[in-house]
Amino acid sequence: MIDLEPAARDDWYALARIEDVPRSGLDTRLLGRPVRVARAQDGTIVAFGPDGERLATTIAYGHVFASLGAPGKPLFAIPEFEEADRRLATCGAVRVRASGLRLVENFLDMAHFPFVHTDLLGIEERPEVPDYEVEIRRDIDEVIATRCRFWQPRAAAHAEGGQMSEYVYRVATPFNVLLYKTCPSDPARVDVIGLLVQPLEEDLSAAFAFVLVVDAVSSTTNIIRFQQTIFLQDRIILENQRPRLLPLSPRAEIPTRADLSSVAYRRRLKEKGLRFGTLERDGRAAP
Ligand SMILES: [Fe+2]
Repeated sequence: MIDLEPAARDDWYALARIEDVPRSGLDTRLLGRPVRVARAQDGTIVAFGPDGERLATTIAYGHVFASLGAPGKPLFAIPEFEEADRRLATCGAVRVRASGLRLVENFLDMAHFPFVHTDLLGIEERPEVPDYEVEIRRDIDEVIATRCRFWQPRAAAHAEGGQMSEYVYRVATPFNVLLYKTCPSDPARVDVIGLLVQPLEEDLSAAFAFVLVVDAVSSTTNIIRFQQTIFLQDRIILENQRPRLLPLSPRAEIPTRADLSSVAYRRRLKEKGLRFGTLERDGRAAP
């Protein structure tokens, strides 16, 4: 078992959807170690580590989160969960044979929309990614991309006709990323889409997607089906990407203008000293 650096060990990770934890508990993996999610008599959910030790556990956003170490702060806040008229749809776990960091990086990338999510999140006739801004917010330990815009023929389950979607991306932790996106039914508000990644092994992940939408029309089944369609398209791309681990060296893959958020994301991972799921571990750094 490889040693875990604090940047990986002391952070929060989604382990399961609340509703997927059976009374008998759930055995899973986190950062290459066995963990158990248990349900007490009174329904309380607690996670246990490889030696049976009780882990820091937080129940939030429809999911169970835990840490193998001592998180320096509470789980990241998503204030939109306080708004009563929003609907939460959770998609459940999808296994992907790739580093969790690859999943987050793919989530941040708009350039693939027209080619991977053709006629949903983009059209081949409009492949350009307009300039946007990215900031590494060291004060709150997040990476945030703003003023992202993209023409989308069908931006959400409840979208009718195309729209110029505006996005804000928020990397809340290295393995948890959020997207705030123009709401097709109310332009004054934003839908929230989250991707919570459970790194099972360095090159194997479980992805929990959720949407928190202002949408009085679509059925939850339709909302989930729409997100699953998108994510299964991504999975094909992700599983074919090589290397499976994320290179952090700036020279490893040549960034283009559209990759600004990817560059900032990798830089931040390097600053934090994160190695799990990267090519940076001793002796295997990319040439
Ligand atoms: Fe995608």
